[in-house]
Amino acid sequence: MDYDNLPTFEVLPKHVGVIMDGNGRWAKKRGLPRYKGHVEGAKTFRKIGEFAADLGIKYITFYAFSTENWKRPKEEVSAIMDLFREYLKEALGRVEEDRKNGIRISFIGSREGIPADIRLLMKQVERIGRKEDRIMLNIAVNYGGRQEIAESVREIAEDVKKGRIKPSEIDMDMISSHLYTAGMPDPDLIIRPSGEQRLSNFLLWQSAYAEFWYSDVLWPDFTEEDFVEALRAYEHRSRRFGGV
Ligand code: IPE
Ligand code: IPE
Ligand code: MG
Repeated sequence: MDYDNLPTFEVLPKHVGVIMDGNGRWAKKRGLPRYKGHVEGAKTFRKIGEFAADLGIKYITFYAFSTENWKRPKEEVSAIMDLFREYLKEALGRVEEDRKNGIRISFIGSREGIPADIRLLMKQVERIGRKEDRIMLNIAVNYGGRQEIAESVREIAEDVKKGRIKPSEIDMDMISSHLYTAGMPDPDLIIRPSGEQRLSNFLLWQSAYAEFWYSDVLWPDFTEEDFVEALRAYEHRSRRFGGV
């Protein structure tokens, strides 16, 4: 980190979403295979995750793999899964440190289609951090906002069918409580590097009033300074939530 003293902020978002994009282009620019971009991107993820925790951001959600990313070449998908596996093992070896820092790691997204050994590691990582509550680090893997909403509707329909609830009782809070993010505040700020200005199916329901910050920097080049720039921009946003 290039900071002697950590920067301070007048307002800090409670929940930041980060769409980690641009790994492939980063590699292409250097004449490297795409997976090399993912290797570098994974390092940036660790760096920014730690920095956000140091700054005291309570909830941070990193978009790592979407339900649409399975469309990519098999080798690329398996390289991403390998990196994910490596990260999970590393997290299991760092239990004490994460406990000391009060970091809880959770995953949002569907477990379907994820290799069984990785699913087991995910479960273990979530288990060891379940009592921590200072920093909630969420990783969206095999995540799709529309898939998440559909799943939530399916669960609610089951509850209606079983007579547990009446259709008239279905409200926004009930839908929220069936999402992967149940119990978390909505994202206040969504950061997307790489020049794209779209959500790509990330936290659709939850982003209703999120502030967006975009940058042309490719994710592997993303620095703590870029993160601070996004937070500074957020400090000056005027959020009205439909009011005046
Ligand atoms: C983001 O980088 C990582 C994943 C979606 C898994 P990309 O791989 O999408 O990088 P670009 O957009 O092709 O540069
Ligand atoms: C969004 O990036 C998904 C992740 C960063 C995990 P994509 O690269 O998949 O999004 P599109 O295809 O450019 O919309
Ligand atoms: Mg991309």
